[in-house]
Amino acid sequence: MTAATGQRWTLRGAHTEYTVTVPAHGRWLELVAWGPHGVSDGPSPVAYDGPVPFLTAGDAAPIEYATDADRPFTGADLVIETVDGKRRVGFVHTDARIDAYQRELAVDFVDPVTRLRATVHYRVPEGTDVVQRWVELSNDGTDELRVVRAGSGGFCVPTPHGALLSHQWGQWSQEFQLSHVELGHGTFGIGSSQGVPGHLHVPWLAVRDTAGPAGPAWGIALAWTGSWEIRAERDTGGLTRVRAGRQLVDGPLELAAGERLSLPVVTGAYSPDGLDGLARVWHTHQRLLAGDRLTDRPVLYNSWEATYFAVEAQSQLALARIAAELGVETFVVDDGWFVGRNDDTAGLGDWTPDPAKFPAGFDTFIAEVRALGLNFGLWVEPECVNPKSTLYAEHPDWVYAVDGRPLTPVRNQYLLDLGRPEVAEFVHSTVDGLLRRYDIDYLKWDFNRPRTEPGRPGGVGPLDLDGAHVANLHRIFERLRRDHPDVLIEACAGGGGRTDLAMAARADVFWPSDNTGPLDRLAIQYGFLHANAPHLLSSWVTDAPGLFDPRPRTLGFRFVLAMAGVLGIGADIRAWTPAERAEAAGWIARYKEIREIVTRGEVHLIGGPDQARCAVQYTAPDQRRVVVLAWHTGRLDGAGLLPSRPVRLPLRGLDPAARYSDGERHYSGSHLGGVGLPVQWSATHDADLIVLTRD
Ligand code: GLA
Repeated sequence: MTAATGQRWTLRGAHTEYTVTVPAHGRWLELVAWGPHGVSDGPSPVAYDGPVPFLTAGDAAPIEYATDADRPFTGADLVIETVDGKRRVGFVHTDARIDAYQRELAVDFVDPVTRLRATVHYRVPEGTDVVQRWVELSNDGTDELRVVRAGSGGFCVPTPHGALLSHQWGQWSQEFQLSHVELGHGTFGIGSSQGVPGHLHVPWLAVRDTAGPAGPAWGIALAWTGSWEIRAERDTGGLTRVRAGRQLVDGPLELAAGERLSLPVVTGAYSPDGLDGLARVWHTHQRLLAGDRLTDRPVLYNSWEATYFAVEAQSQLALARIAAELGVETFVVDDGWFVGRNDDTAGLGDWTPDPAKFPAGFDTFIAEVRALGLNFGLWVEPECVNPKSTLYAEHPDWVYAVDGRPLTPVRNQYLLDLGRPEVAEFVHSTVDGLLRRYDIDYLKWDFNRPRTEPGRPGGVGPLDLDGAHVANLHRIFERLRRDHPDVLIEACAGGGGRTDLAMAARADVFWPSDNTGPLDRLAIQYGFLHANAPHLLSSWVTDAPGLFDPRPRTLGFRFVLAMAGVLGIGADIRAWTPAERAEAAGWIARYKEIREIVTRGEVHLIGGPDQARCAVQYTAPDQRRVVVLAWHTGRLDGAGLLPSRPVRLPLRGLDPAARYSDGERHYSGSHLGGVGLPVQWSATHDADLIVLTRD
C-alpha cells in the first residue's frame, strides 16, 4: 500500500514548530522548517531542488531519515544489508498519523524488496520546545537482515554563512569543556565506543550560523547510555545536517524475520537566543523528564574525600555529627563499606557491609546516623567486579570476555555482562536487597570502567552487547525507582562519564566530575549547565587545596559554586575550625532559602569561566525573586588594593519597568539589564550570592 504524498505535518511546541513533508516521489520524509511559530509559512529555509551534478537529489535534500539508497554519498542514517550482502534499502511512504494537538506524529515507510518497515516517530512534550524522534524498524520479510548503521535521525539546520558548532569534550576530572568549532565544509564528528557515553565527549551538539551567534541556536542530544556517534556535515549549499545515533561497536545488529528494533530517541531543541537560550530549552525538557521527582534536593555530605577507603563506623559518625550541626540533610557513605574493600584492588561484587568496619552492625550504624536527624545514602558500583572477590571466584564467566584472549582490567576491575539475564537479576536483586534490608534514602550508583572486551565467554557473534547492557541498565533503574520511590539515585561514572538524556530521565542527579577544584569546577559546571538543568548538578565543597586544583579560593567561593546545583560537602569537616563551621552553616541555611529557585528558576548563564564576568542567574517562575551566583575568575593578587570599579553583571529576562532590591540597594530592571548588577571583588571576597526581590 502506498499513501498520498506531498502531505505536510506541523508539530507545535510552546514557542516553536517543526514541519515535515513527504515529497511527491514518496521515498522519504523531508524537513520543511524548524524554528519559531510561523517559520513554516514561507519558502523553506532548507529545501533544495536545483541541479546536483555528480550527486543524487537525496544527497542534497533535507531528509529526516535517510537510507544509503537516499543519500549514497553524503551520509545515511540507516544502512541495511541482506544476509548475502546486498545493500540500498529504499523506502516507499505508506501511512501517517498525527494527534489533534500536533504533538505526536508517526510516518510509515516500507521497503518493497526486503519488506523492512520503518516508522519515524515524533513527539513534542507539552510545554517544551524540543522534538523527540525515534525510529522503529520491523522486519516483515522472510529473511534475516543486518543493520549495519543504526542512526536515530538527521536534523537539518540552515547555516548559510558557515556552521558554528558547540560541543563538550573532556577526560576524567575535566569533563564538560565547552568548545566551539567553525565548520566551513566537511564533517565534524564526536562519539564514544566505550559502551557508555564517556568522559571524552557529551552526546550533545549545538549548531548556529556563524553570522549570528547570539541568534537562533539548534541543539541535538541523544538519549542513549551506550556507544554513540554524532556527525555534522555542512554541504556546499550551506545546509548542516547532523545525524545522531548508536555506534555499533559490536558489529551489525541482526534483525530476524518478524523481529522489531527500536532505535534510541534523539532530541532536537530550538531557541532564538543563542546557546544561553538553548540551555533553558534543555532545562525545561529535563525538568519535565523528572516529573514529580523534580523536588528540592537535600544538602548532602559525602565522606569519600575525607576518609577514602578507610571507612569505619566511628570516623563516619564523627563526620556525620558535624555534618548534622552544619545543617546537612543526607549523609552518604562512599566506596569502602563492604567486605574486602580496603583499596581499589578488591571487593567489588561482594556487597555485604564489612563487619570489621561496622562491629555493632550496619543497621546500628545507620540508625546512629539517622538519630542525628540525617537521611542515609550509600555508594554502589554493581556492574563491576574485582578479580579479587567472591563474586568473580564463583562467576568468572559473568564478565565480558573474548574467548582465548586476555581480559583488560581498568582500575583493577572487570565489567559484568549486564545483558545476561542472570547478571541483570544479580545486579537488580543486590541493589534492591540493600534498599529493602537497610534504611537507605539515597544511592550513588557508580561505574568506573568502560567496556573493553566485545564478547561473552562461549558466545557466538555478533551479539548486541551494547544494546543489551543499556536496556537492562535502564530497566533496573526504572524498577528500583518504581519499587523505592523515595530513594534518590545519583548517577556517577568516575565523575561525569554517564550523562545522557536517557539517564536524565532515570536518575535524579548526576555527579559531573571528581574534580572539585574551584576554578576547574567552575568550567565543568558552566559546560554542564549548557546541557543539563541545575537539579541534575551535584556539587561538593571540598578542602583547599584540593586533589586537582591548588589555586586557592575562599570557602565562600566554594560554597557559592556548589550552590549552583545540588549542594553537598565532601571535605574533611573534622578539621574545619569553629569559624569555618559557622560560615558553612550560614551558607547551607542560605542555600535552603534559595534552592527552590535554583531547582525551578529560569537560568541565564552570564559571561563564562574564562571571562571577567562569570555568574549564573536564576529567576523564580513567578518572577518575584532573582538569585545571582557570581564568581571572581581573575587573579586574586592585588584585587581590591588598587582603585577598582565593580564588575557589572548584565541580568537577563527582567521586567525593565520593575524595581528590584537586594535588601540595601534598589535597581530598575532596565538598569540591571543594561548597566548590570555591581559586584566588587577583593582577595577575600571572590564570590557572591545576591538575592533580588521585586518591589
Ligand atoms: C569514582 C567516583 C568517586 C568515588 C570513587 C570511589 O571515582 O567518581 O566520586 O565514588 O569512585 O571509588
